[in-house]
Amino acid sequence: MMIKSIKDTLRLNNEVEMPRHGFGVYLIKKEDEARAAVAKAVASGYQAFDTAQFYDNEALIGKLLKESGLPRSHFFITTKVDNPKQGYERTLIAVEQSLKDLQVEQLDLLLVHWPSKKHFFATWKALEKLYDEKLVRAIGVSNFEIHHLEKLSTRANVKPAVDQLEIHPYFQQRALQNYLNEHQIAVEAWSPLGRGAVLGDAVIGKIAEKYGKSPAQVVIRWHLQSGRLVIPKSATPSRIAQNVDIYDFSLADDEMARIDRLDRPDGRNGPVPDEVYEQI
Ligand code: A2P
Repeated sequence: MMIKSIKDTLRLNNEVEMPRHGFGVYLIKKEDEARAAVAKAVASGYQAFDTAQFYDNEALIGKLLKESGLPRSHFFITTKVDNPKQGYERTLIAVEQSLKDLQVEQLDLLLVHWPSKKHFFATWKALEKLYDEKLVRAIGVSNFEIHHLEKLSTRANVKPAVDQLEIHPYFQQRALQNYLNEHQIAVEAWSPLGRGAVLGDAVIGKIAEKYGKSPAQVVIRWHLQSGRLVIPKSATPSRIAQNVDIYDFSLADDEMARIDRLDRPDGRNGPVPDEVYEQI
């Protein structure tokens, strides 16, 4: 696969072109910090920004993207329906607010943040309506496992374009990734650096040293060369620039395989989707 620049896109199953390498803004909430981070991200070439209603920063991110002076068409904006907003009516109302807060007429990608047993089909119906009305260019899910996707397929009119999942070298979810690949649902990695946990890994450190790159840069390359969408988060301007400086080297097949072998049964950092599913 050719990985050339931050402008590389992946064609989703509805033909929408999505930048492969986006910027995550989870926990970037303080205005000064957000202003510096978004300015650096935009200057570094990031066009895709991944937020969520839960992050409580949509209005701030919307304002900062507007302040960049770049046209709406320059950006690819993702947000997610928060757990308490699930259900048909609540989702429609919440997304209307997201559009206002982000100061856009249309979202590029809207995801269901977590699977909910109670609101499972109602929330998806709301996303389908928003998609039909062209208020969102693509719809998808996050933290859905195979059985959630199978259940969704029994009543969905629109197939999810994306499943955004916790994926990093210590938690790779291979069976789920294979399922998504077979079903033409794009795999997007959240917490792609394992919240920093994988950056001290000896195998990754050795590969990084060989290329004169940092462990974070090697891990971002590994995601992209594996065909995934990836959204590293950093609030630190120097790291934001570093995380896009990954287009001048390439991991060899055996190095990809060595990172693939770092998968661990207990590597998950975030919530267990089925526990959330039962609760919301
Ligand atoms: P910070 O935001 O303080 O720069 P993940 O995306 O896996 O959740 O990881 C995010 C964490 O990784 C954040 O704590 C972020 O710190 C840190 N991080 C992001 N980029 C780098 C980098 N290039 N080097 C080291 N740590 C990084």
